Amino acid sequence: MEPTTAPAKPQFSEAAKAEIARICKQYPEERRKSALLPVLHIAQAEFGGWVSPEVQDLVAEVLGLAPIEVYEVSTFYTMFNLKPVGKHVLEICRTGPCMLRGSDELTAHLERITGAKVGGAPSEDGLFTLKEVECLAACGFAPIVQVREKYYEQLDTQEAVDAMLLELRNQVHRPALPWEENGLPNALANN
Ligand code: FES
Repeated sequence: MEPTTAPAKPQFSEAAKAEIARICKQYPEERRKSALLPVLHIAQAEFGGWVSPEVQDLVAEVLGLAPIEVYEVSTFYTMFNLKPVGKHVLEICRTGPCMLRGSDELTAHLERITGAKVGGAPSEDGLFTLKEVECLAACGFAPIVQVREKYYEQLDTQEAVDAMLLELRNQVHRPALPWEENGLPNALANN
C-alpha cells in the first residue's frame, strides 16, 4: 500500500540557521536577495549535495523571496545540482590548459572506473557523480578535479587518480564546513 503521509518539509539544522542569520546581517534588510548565493550553498551542503524544489522553496521562505527568484539563480549557475548526486561530485575541468594536459582521457578513465557518466546519474554504488566544468583557475596544476572545497591536481597519472578515488572512497562523511564547528548535523550522518 502506498504511504499516505506527505514527506516531511526540509528544515535547516540549527548550525545552518545560525550561519544564514550571520550572512543575512551583512546585507541591508531590503537587500535580502543578496544572500541568495551563499544560502543556496549552505542548502546544498545540508541536503545531500543538491537542491530539490522543496529545498529551494525553503531557501525562498527563509530569505522572504518568491520561489521563482531562487529557481532563476539555481538553474543559472552550474555549481548547483538540481538532481540527486552521488556522495562525491567530481567536477572535471575541461577548459584549454586542462584539455591539453589530458582532461579528456581523465574523464574517460573516471567514467570507466566509477561506472558513472558525465552529466548522467551517479555511479551504481552511489559514491560518484561526474560533471564537466570550465576553468577552475588552477591551470598551472592541470588537469584538475574539484570535489567540494578541495582541488585534486595534476591528475595525469594512474597513481594520482587512484589516490584521489581511494581518499574519497574512505571518506565516511563529507568534511565539516566552517560553521559546523561542533560536527555535522545529525541529519547529515549519511551524507
Ligand atoms: S583550464 Fe583547468 S584549471 Fe584552468
